[in-house]
Amino acid sequence: MAASRGEFSSRMGFILAAAGSAVGLGNIWGFPSQVAANGGAAFVLVYLLLAFLIAYPVLMTELAIGRFAKANTLAALEKLSRGPISRRASYLFGYLGVVVAGLILSFYGVIAGLMLGQCLESLLSLFGIETGLLSGTGASTFFTLLFMALTFAIVMRGVSSGIEAWSRRLMPMLIVLLLLLIAIVVSQAGAQQGLKAYLLPDFSKIWQGDLLLSAMGQVFFSLSLGVGTMLIYGSYVKQKESLPKLGAWVTLVDVAIAFLAGLLIIPAMYVAMNNGVQIYDSQGELLASSQLVFVVLPELFASLGVFGIVLSSLFFAMLVLASLTSSISMLEVPVATLSEQSGCSRRQAAILSLLVIASVSLLLIWQGDVLFGLAVSASTEFGQPLMGLVFCIYLGWLWQRHLLLSELQKGSPNIANSAFWRCWPNYVKYVCPLIILTIFFSSIAA
Ligand code: PHE
Repeated sequence: MAASRGEFSSRMGFILAAAGSAVGLGNIWGFPSQVAANGGAAFVLVYLLLAFLIAYPVLMTELAIGRFAKANTLAALEKLSRGPISRRASYLFGYLGVVVAGLILSFYGVIAGLMLGQCLESLLSLFGIETGLLSGTGASTFFTLLFMALTFAIVMRGVSSGIEAWSRRLMPMLIVLLLLLIAIVVSQAGAQQGLKAYLLPDFSKIWQGDLLLSAMGQVFFSLSLGVGTMLIYGSYVKQKESLPKLGAWVTLVDVAIAFLAGLLIIPAMYVAMNNGVQIYDSQGELLASSQLVFVVLPELFASLGVFGIVLSSLFFAMLVLASLTSSISMLEVPVATLSEQSGCSRRQAAILSLLVIASVSLLLIWQGDVLFGLAVSASTEFGQPLMGLVFCIYLGWLWQRHLLLSELQKGSPNIANSAFWRCWPNYVKYVCPLIILTIFFSSIAA
Protein backbone atom coordinates (compact mmCIF):
# COMPACT_ATOMS: atom_id res chain seq x y z
CA MET A 1 0.00 0.00 0.00
CA ALA A 2 1.31 3.41 -0.92
CA ALA A 3 1.71 5.86 1.94
CA SER A 4 -1.12 8.42 2.21
CA ARG A 5 -0.33 11.69 0.48
CA GLY A 6 0.37 14.91 2.32
CA GLU A 7 -1.06 18.33 1.50
CA PHE A 8 -0.08 21.95 2.12
CA SER A 9 -2.45 23.23 4.76
CA SER A 10 -2.83 26.74 3.34
CA ARG A 11 -2.11 29.00 0.39
CA MET A 12 0.58 30.84 2.34
CA GLY A 13 2.14 27.54 3.37
CA PHE A 14 2.47 26.49 -0.26
CA ILE A 15 3.83 29.87 -1.38
CA LEU A 16 6.47 29.85 1.36
CA ALA A 17 7.46 26.26 0.68
CA ALA A 18 7.64 26.67 -3.10
CA ALA A 19 9.36 30.05 -2.83
CA GLY A 20 11.62 28.43 -0.25
CA SER A 21 12.55 25.80 -2.81
CA ALA A 22 13.14 28.46 -5.44
CA VAL A 23 15.10 30.84 -3.23
CA GLY A 24 18.49 29.33 -2.52
CA LEU A 25 22.13 29.53 -3.44
CA GLY A 26 20.96 30.18 -7.00
CA ASN A 27 19.49 33.51 -5.94
CA ILE A 28 21.86 34.65 -3.26
CA TRP A 29 25.10 33.46 -4.75
CA GLY A 30 24.47 32.53 -8.41
CA PHE A 31 22.41 35.52 -9.47
CA PRO A 32 24.68 38.27 -8.11
CA SER A 33 27.78 36.50 -9.48
CA GLN A 34 26.15 36.35 -12.91
CA VAL A 35 25.14 40.00 -12.65
CA ALA A 36 28.71 40.99 -11.82
CA ALA A 37 30.15 38.88 -14.62
CA ASN A 38 27.58 39.88 -17.27
CA GLY A 39 27.23 43.63 -17.39
CA GLY A 40 25.39 44.54 -14.18
CA ALA A 41 21.91 45.94 -14.65
CA ALA A 42 21.60 44.69 -18.25
CA PHE A 43 21.65 41.12 -16.92
CA VAL A 44 19.09 42.04 -14.26
CA LEU A 45 16.66 43.28 -16.90
CA VAL A 46 17.07 40.24 -19.12
CA TYR A 47 16.65 37.99 -16.10
CA LEU A 48 13.41 39.68 -15.05
CA LEU A 49 12.06 39.35 -18.56
CA LEU A 50 12.97 35.68 -18.85
CA ALA A 51 11.51 34.89 -15.45
CA PHE A 52 8.09 35.74 -16.79
CA LEU A 53 8.56 34.62 -20.39
CA ILE A 54 10.04 31.21 -19.67
CA ALA A 55 10.18 30.31 -16.04
CA TYR A 56 6.59 31.17 -15.16
CA PRO A 57 5.03 29.14 -18.02
CA VAL A 58 7.19 26.11 -17.21
CA LEU A 59 6.49 26.46 -13.49
CA MET A 60 2.77 26.49 -14.29
CA THR A 61 3.25 23.36 -16.40
CA GLU A 62 4.76 21.50 -13.46
CA LEU A 63 2.19 22.74 -10.96
CA ALA A 64 -0.74 21.85 -13.22
CA ILE A 65 0.53 18.35 -14.02
CA GLY A 66 1.29 17.74 -10.35
CA ARG A 67 -2.06 18.80 -9.01
CA PHE A 68 -3.95 16.95 -11.72
CA ALA A 69 -2.18 13.68 -11.06
CA LYS A 70 -1.76 14.07 -7.29
CA ALA A 71 1.33 11.95 -7.62
CA ASN A 72 5.09 11.93 -8.09
CA THR A 73 6.62 12.72 -11.49
CA LEU A 74 6.66 9.15 -12.75
CA ALA A 75 3.01 8.41 -11.94
CA ALA A 76 1.96 11.88 -13.10
CA LEU A 77 3.54 11.49 -16.53
CA GLU A 78 2.10 8.00 -16.77
CA LYS A 79 -1.35 9.43 -16.13
CA LEU A 80 -0.96 11.84 -19.04
CA SER A 81 0.38 9.16 -21.38
CA ARG A 82 -1.68 8.18 -24.41
CA GLY A 83 -0.04 4.97 -25.56
CA PRO A 84 2.66 2.42 -24.79
CA ILE A 85 5.53 4.66 -25.89
CA SER A 86 4.66 7.65 -23.76
CA ARG A 87 3.79 5.28 -20.90
CA ARG A 88 7.19 3.63 -21.05
CA ALA A 89 8.86 7.00 -21.42
CA SER A 90 7.14 8.20 -18.26
CA TYR A 91 9.08 5.58 -16.29
CA LEU A 92 12.33 6.66 -17.86
CA PHE A 93 11.68 10.35 -17.19
CA GLY A 94 10.25 9.75 -13.74
CA TYR A 95 13.46 8.08 -12.65
CA LEU A 96 15.58 10.59 -14.55
CA GLY A 97 13.94 13.33 -12.46
CA VAL A 98 14.90 11.43 -9.32
CA VAL A 99 18.50 11.16 -10.51
CA VAL A 100 18.67 14.87 -11.43
CA ALA A 101 17.22 15.90 -8.07
CA GLY A 102 19.60 13.59 -6.23
CA LEU A 103 22.60 14.79 -8.16
CA ILE A 104 21.76 18.45 -7.54
CA LEU A 105 21.30 17.75 -3.85
CA SER A 106 24.61 15.91 -3.69
CA PHE A 107 26.62 18.94 -4.82
CA TYR A 108 24.29 21.50 -3.26
CA GLY A 109 24.73 19.79 0.10
CA VAL A 110 28.51 20.10 -0.16
CA ILE A 111 28.33 23.85 -0.80
CA ALA A 112 25.68 24.36 1.87
CA GLY A 113 27.88 22.35 4.25
CA LEU A 114 30.73 24.78 3.62
CA MET A 115 28.37 27.67 4.40
CA LEU A 116 27.36 25.95 7.61
CA GLY A 117 31.03 25.59 8.55
CA GLN A 118 31.73 29.24 7.76
CA CYS A 119 28.74 30.29 9.84
CA LEU A 120 29.87 28.27 12.88
CA GLU A 121 33.43 29.49 12.48
CA SER A 122 32.31 33.13 12.44
CA LEU A 123 30.12 32.58 15.49
CA LEU A 124 32.97 30.91 17.40
CA SER A 125 35.43 33.62 16.49
CA LEU A 126 33.02 36.16 17.95
CA PHE A 127 33.88 34.52 21.25
CA GLY A 128 37.57 34.55 20.47
CA ILE A 129 37.75 30.88 19.48
CA GLU A 130 39.74 30.41 16.27
CA THR A 131 39.31 26.85 15.03
CA GLY A 132 40.14 26.83 11.33
CA LEU A 133 37.12 24.53 11.05
CA LEU A 134 36.80 24.83 7.34
CA SER A 135 40.13 23.53 6.26
CA GLY A 136 40.36 20.08 4.77
CA THR A 137 38.12 17.38 3.44
CA GLY A 138 37.41 16.14 6.96
CA ALA A 139 35.62 19.38 7.84
CA SER A 140 33.84 19.43 4.53
CA THR A 141 32.64 15.87 5.07
CA PHE A 142 31.42 16.63 8.56
CA PHE A 143 29.44 19.75 7.61
CA THR A 144 27.99 18.21 4.46
CA LEU A 145 26.69 15.28 6.52
CA LEU A 146 25.37 17.67 9.16
CA PHE A 147 23.52 19.66 6.53
CA MET A 148 22.14 16.49 4.95
CA ALA A 149 20.97 15.31 8.36
CA LEU A 150 19.04 18.57 8.87
CA THR A 151 17.45 18.18 5.45
CA PHE A 152 16.52 14.59 6.25
CA ALA A 153 15.04 15.50 9.64
CA ILE A 154 12.66 18.01 8.06
CA VAL A 155 11.60 15.91 5.08
CA MET A 156 10.93 12.88 7.23
CA ARG A 157 8.26 14.78 9.13
CA GLY A 158 6.11 15.01 6.00
CA VAL A 159 4.59 17.75 3.90
CA SER A 160 2.63 19.93 6.30
CA SER A 161 4.51 19.41 9.57
CA GLY A 162 7.94 19.11 7.96
CA ILE A 163 8.35 21.01 4.69
CA GLU A 164 5.59 23.55 5.19
CA ALA A 165 6.14 24.18 8.90
CA TRP A 166 9.87 24.71 8.47
CA SER A 167 9.51 26.85 5.36
CA ARG A 168 7.16 29.06 7.36
CA ARG A 169 9.80 29.46 10.04
CA LEU A 170 12.90 29.77 7.88
CA MET A 171 11.68 32.01 5.05
CA PRO A 172 10.76 35.02 7.22
CA MET A 173 14.11 34.70 9.04
CA LEU A 174 15.87 34.68 5.69
CA ILE A 175 14.08 37.81 4.48
CA VAL A 176 14.77 39.70 7.73
CA LEU A 177 18.46 38.76 7.59
CA LEU A 178 18.69 39.80 3.96
CA LEU A 179 17.11 43.21 4.58
CA LEU A 180 19.28 43.77 7.64
CA LEU A 181 22.45 42.96 5.73
CA ILE A 182 21.45 45.22 2.81
CA ALA A 183 20.86 48.12 5.20
CA ILE A 184 24.28 47.60 6.76
CA VAL A 185 26.26 47.11 3.54
CA VAL A 186 24.63 49.94 1.60
CA SER A 187 25.67 52.42 4.29
CA GLN A 188 29.39 51.53 3.91
CA ALA A 189 31.88 53.60 1.92
CA GLY A 190 32.10 52.46 -1.73
CA ALA A 191 28.59 50.96 -1.80
CA GLN A 192 27.19 53.76 -3.97
CA GLN A 193 29.40 52.79 -6.87
CA GLY A 194 28.11 49.22 -6.58
CA LEU A 195 24.51 50.39 -6.54
CA LYS A 196 25.13 52.30 -9.75
CA ALA A 197 26.67 49.29 -11.47
CA TYR A 198 23.72 47.20 -10.33
CA LEU A 199 20.91 49.57 -11.20
CA LEU A 200 22.02 51.48 -14.30
CA PRO A 201 21.99 49.15 -17.32
CA ASP A 202 24.57 49.25 -20.04
CA PHE A 203 22.41 47.98 -22.92
CA SER A 204 25.36 47.36 -25.20
CA LYS A 205 26.16 44.36 -23.00
CA ILE A 206 22.85 42.59 -23.59
CA TRP A 207 24.06 41.05 -26.86
CA GLN A 208 27.51 40.29 -25.55
CA GLY A 209 28.73 36.72 -25.25
CA ASP A 210 26.28 34.36 -23.69
CA LEU A 211 24.36 36.74 -21.48
CA LEU A 212 20.99 35.51 -22.72
CA LEU A 213 21.98 31.89 -22.28
CA SER A 214 23.39 32.45 -18.83
CA ALA A 215 20.22 34.25 -17.82
CA MET A 216 18.05 31.40 -19.09
CA GLY A 217 20.07 28.76 -17.27
CA GLN A 218 20.02 30.87 -14.14
CA VAL A 219 16.27 31.41 -14.19
CA PHE A 220 15.63 27.69 -14.71
CA PHE A 221 17.81 26.68 -11.80
CA SER A 222 16.55 29.46 -9.60
CA LEU A 223 12.89 28.47 -9.98
CA SER A 224 13.74 24.80 -9.31
CA LEU A 225 12.41 23.76 -12.72
CA GLY A 226 13.06 20.56 -14.64
CA VAL A 227 13.60 18.41 -11.57
CA GLY A 228 10.09 17.45 -10.57
CA THR A 229 10.25 19.46 -7.36
CA MET A 230 7.57 21.91 -8.43
CA LEU A 231 5.48 19.12 -9.93
CA ILE A 232 5.51 17.27 -6.63
CA TYR A 233 4.85 20.44 -4.62
CA GLY A 234 1.97 21.10 -7.04
CA SER A 235 0.59 17.68 -6.21
CA TYR A 236 0.18 18.79 -2.58
CA VAL A 237 -1.86 21.90 -3.47
CA LYS A 238 -5.56 21.94 -2.57
CA GLN A 239 -8.16 21.91 -5.36
CA LYS A 240 -9.63 25.24 -4.32
CA GLU A 241 -6.42 27.18 -5.03
CA SER A 242 -5.89 29.13 -8.24
CA LEU A 243 -2.72 27.73 -9.81
CA PRO A 244 -1.89 30.73 -12.06
CA LYS A 245 -1.98 33.00 -9.01
CA LEU A 246 0.12 30.67 -6.87
CA GLY A 247 2.66 30.33 -9.67
CA ALA A 248 2.82 34.09 -10.12
CA TRP A 249 3.45 34.57 -6.40
CA VAL A 250 6.25 32.06 -6.34
CA THR A 251 7.89 33.62 -9.41
CA LEU A 252 7.54 37.10 -7.92
CA VAL A 253 9.05 36.13 -4.58
CA ASP A 254 11.92 34.32 -6.25
CA VAL A 255 12.71 37.24 -8.54
CA ALA A 256 12.35 39.78 -5.73
CA ILE A 257 14.76 37.87 -3.51
CA ALA A 258 17.30 37.48 -6.31
CA PHE A 259 17.02 41.22 -6.89
CA LEU A 260 17.51 41.94 -3.18
CA ALA A 261 20.47 39.57 -3.03
CA GLY A 262 22.05 41.59 -5.83
CA LEU A 263 21.40 44.71 -3.80
CA LEU A 264 23.48 43.13 -1.07
CA ILE A 265 26.29 41.40 -2.94
CA ILE A 266 27.14 43.91 -5.69
CA PRO A 267 27.53 46.88 -3.32
CA ALA A 268 29.40 44.55 -0.92
CA MET A 269 31.90 43.80 -3.69
CA TYR A 270 32.53 47.49 -4.23
CA VAL A 271 32.84 48.09 -0.49
CA ALA A 272 35.40 45.28 -0.50
CA MET A 273 37.22 46.92 -3.41
CA ASN A 274 37.15 50.20 -1.53
CA ASN A 275 38.80 48.40 1.39
CA GLY A 276 41.58 47.13 -0.85
CA VAL A 277 40.22 43.64 -1.64
CA GLN A 278 40.80 42.47 -5.21
CA ILE A 279 37.58 41.50 -7.01
CA TYR A 280 38.62 41.56 -10.69
CA ASP A 281 41.64 39.78 -12.11
CA SER A 282 44.31 41.41 -14.28
CA GLN A 283 42.16 41.00 -17.43
CA GLY A 284 39.29 42.83 -15.79
CA GLU A 285 37.32 39.58 -15.39
CA LEU A 286 35.45 39.02 -12.17
CA LEU A 287 37.15 36.48 -9.92
CA ALA A 288 35.41 33.10 -10.08
CA SER A 289 32.03 33.09 -8.37
CA SER A 290 33.24 30.59 -5.79
CA GLN A 291 35.86 33.14 -4.83
CA LEU A 292 33.23 35.81 -4.45
CA VAL A 293 31.55 34.11 -1.52
CA PHE A 294 34.52 32.28 -0.05
CA VAL A 295 37.29 34.84 -0.58
CA VAL A 296 36.02 38.34 -1.40
CA LEU A 297 33.24 38.53 1.15
CA PRO A 298 35.26 36.97 4.00
CA GLU A 299 38.03 39.48 3.25
CA LEU A 300 35.47 42.25 3.37
CA PHE A 301 34.16 40.96 6.69
CA ALA A 302 37.71 40.68 8.03
CA SER A 303 38.42 44.29 7.09
CA LEU A 304 35.50 45.42 9.27
CA GLY A 305 36.78 43.99 12.57
CA VAL A 306 34.32 42.60 15.14
CA PHE A 307 31.41 44.18 13.32
CA GLY A 308 32.54 42.23 10.27
CA ILE A 309 32.45 38.97 12.21
CA VAL A 310 28.86 39.61 13.23
CA LEU A 311 28.05 40.39 9.62
CA SER A 312 29.77 37.26 8.46
CA SER A 313 27.83 35.05 10.88
CA LEU A 314 24.56 36.60 9.73
CA PHE A 315 25.48 36.30 6.07
CA PHE A 316 26.37 32.63 6.24
CA ALA A 317 23.39 31.88 8.46
CA MET A 318 21.22 33.40 5.75
CA LEU A 319 22.82 31.20 3.11
CA VAL A 320 22.28 28.10 5.24
CA LEU A 321 18.59 28.95 5.71
CA ALA A 322 18.15 29.55 2.00
CA SER A 323 19.89 26.29 1.15
CA LEU A 324 17.85 24.29 3.62
CA THR A 325 14.44 25.30 2.23
CA SER A 326 15.79 24.31 -1.22
CA SER A 327 17.44 21.07 -0.21
CA ILE A 328 14.28 19.76 1.44
CA SER A 329 12.45 20.26 -1.85
CA MET A 330 15.14 18.29 -3.69
CA LEU A 331 15.02 15.39 -1.25
CA GLU A 332 11.23 15.32 -1.54
CA VAL A 333 11.55 14.15 -5.17
CA PRO A 334 13.14 10.75 -4.45
CA VAL A 335 11.23 10.38 -1.20
CA ALA A 336 7.81 10.92 -2.80
CA THR A 337 8.71 8.76 -5.80
CA LEU A 338 10.12 5.87 -3.80
CA SER A 339 7.40 5.80 -1.20
CA GLU A 340 4.56 6.06 -3.72
CA GLN A 341 5.99 3.69 -6.30
CA SER A 342 7.29 0.99 -4.03
CA GLY A 343 4.86 1.37 -1.17
CA CYS A 344 7.60 1.70 1.44
CA SER A 345 7.17 4.20 4.26
CA ARG A 346 8.25 7.81 3.99
CA ARG A 347 10.86 7.13 6.62
CA GLN A 348 12.37 4.20 4.74
CA ALA A 349 12.34 6.19 1.49
CA ALA A 350 14.05 9.15 3.18
CA ILE A 351 16.74 6.95 4.75
CA LEU A 352 17.49 5.18 1.50
CA SER A 353 17.58 8.41 -0.51
CA LEU A 354 19.77 10.09 2.06
CA LEU A 355 22.24 7.22 2.11
CA VAL A 356 22.64 7.21 -1.66
CA ILE A 357 22.81 11.00 -2.06
CA ALA A 358 25.19 11.52 0.86
CA SER A 359 27.48 8.83 -0.56
CA VAL A 360 27.61 10.72 -3.85
CA SER A 361 28.39 13.92 -1.91
CA LEU A 362 31.30 12.21 -0.17
CA LEU A 363 32.58 11.01 -3.51
CA LEU A 364 32.41 14.58 -4.81
CA ILE A 365 34.32 15.87 -1.79
CA TRP A 366 37.00 13.21 -1.95
CA GLN A 367 37.44 13.01 -5.70
CA GLY A 368 38.07 16.69 -6.27
CA ASP A 369 36.87 19.33 -8.68
CA VAL A 370 36.48 17.38 -11.93
CA LEU A 371 33.74 15.10 -10.66
CA PHE A 372 32.09 18.01 -8.89
CA GLY A 373 31.95 20.03 -12.12
CA LEU A 374 30.61 17.01 -13.93
CA ALA A 375 27.79 16.56 -11.42
CA VAL A 376 26.89 20.24 -11.73
CA SER A 377 26.79 20.30 -15.52
CA ALA A 378 25.16 16.89 -15.96
CA SER A 379 22.30 17.91 -13.71
CA THR A 380 21.85 21.61 -14.47
CA GLU A 381 22.91 21.89 -18.11
CA PHE A 382 21.52 18.56 -19.34
CA GLY A 383 19.09 17.11 -16.83
CA GLN A 384 17.07 20.22 -16.03
CA PRO A 385 16.46 21.45 -19.61
CA LEU A 386 15.67 17.91 -20.73
CA MET A 387 13.12 17.35 -17.98
CA GLY A 388 11.67 20.84 -18.59
CA LEU A 389 11.18 19.85 -22.21
CA VAL A 390 9.53 16.59 -21.22
CA PHE A 391 7.03 18.39 -18.97
CA CYS A 392 6.13 20.83 -21.77
CA ILE A 393 5.66 17.98 -24.24
CA TYR A 394 3.44 15.95 -21.92
CA LEU A 395 1.31 18.99 -21.15
CA GLY A 396 1.24 20.54 -24.61
CA TRP A 397 1.03 17.44 -26.80
CA LEU A 398 -0.46 14.66 -24.68
CA TRP A 399 -2.79 16.20 -22.14
CA GLN A 400 -6.29 16.63 -23.57
CA ARG A 401 -7.22 20.30 -23.53
CA HIS A 402 -10.60 19.90 -21.89
CA LEU A 403 -9.03 17.98 -19.00
CA LEU A 404 -6.33 20.62 -18.64
CA LEU A 405 -8.97 23.34 -18.64
CA SER A 406 -11.05 21.61 -16.00
CA GLU A 407 -7.95 21.23 -13.82
CA LEU A 408 -7.24 24.95 -14.06
CA GLN A 409 -10.88 25.82 -13.46
CA LYS A 410 -10.53 24.42 -9.97
CA GLY A 411 -9.72 27.55 -8.02
CA SER A 412 -10.07 29.80 -11.11
CA PRO A 413 -13.64 29.21 -12.38
CA ASN A 414 -13.49 31.99 -15.01
CA ILE A 415 -10.17 31.01 -16.50
CA ALA A 416 -11.63 29.87 -19.85
CA ASN A 417 -12.14 33.52 -20.86
CA SER A 418 -8.79 34.75 -19.65
CA ALA A 419 -5.73 35.80 -21.64
CA PHE A 420 -3.82 33.19 -19.65
CA TRP A 421 -5.88 30.32 -21.05
CA ARG A 422 -5.83 31.74 -24.59
CA CYS A 423 -2.03 31.94 -24.68
CA TRP A 424 -0.44 29.57 -22.20
CA PRO A 425 -1.27 26.03 -23.52
CA ASN A 426 0.01 26.80 -27.02
CA TYR A 427 2.94 28.73 -25.62
CA VAL A 428 3.93 25.64 -23.64
CA LYS A 429 3.28 23.41 -26.66
CA TYR A 430 5.39 25.33 -29.20
CA VAL A 431 7.40 28.20 -27.76
CA CYS A 432 8.78 26.73 -24.53
CA PRO A 433 10.20 23.58 -26.20
CA LEU A 434 11.87 25.78 -28.81
CA ILE A 435 13.43 28.01 -26.18
CA ILE A 436 14.54 25.07 -24.05
CA LEU A 437 16.06 23.29 -27.03
CA THR A 438 17.95 26.46 -27.87
CA ILE A 439 19.38 26.65 -24.35
CA PHE A 440 20.18 22.99 -24.45
CA PHE A 441 22.06 22.95 -27.75
CA SER A 442 23.82 26.21 -27.09
CA SER A 443 25.12 24.98 -23.77
CA ILE A 444 26.37 21.79 -25.41
CA ALA A 445 28.05 23.82 -28.13
CA ALA A 446 29.61 26.25 -25.63
N1 PHE B 1 16.16 26.90 -6.81
C1 PHE B 1 17.24 26.53 -5.97
C2 PHE B 1 18.23 27.69 -5.86
O1 PHE B 1 18.04 28.71 -6.44
C3 PHE B 1 17.94 25.30 -6.45
C4 PHE B 1 17.04 24.14 -6.76
C5 PHE B 1 17.16 23.50 -7.98
C6 PHE B 1 16.11 23.68 -5.83
C7 PHE B 1 16.37 22.42 -8.29
C8 PHE B 1 15.30 22.55 -6.12
C9 PHE B 1 15.43 21.94 -7.36
O2 PHE B 1 19.18 27.59 -5.19
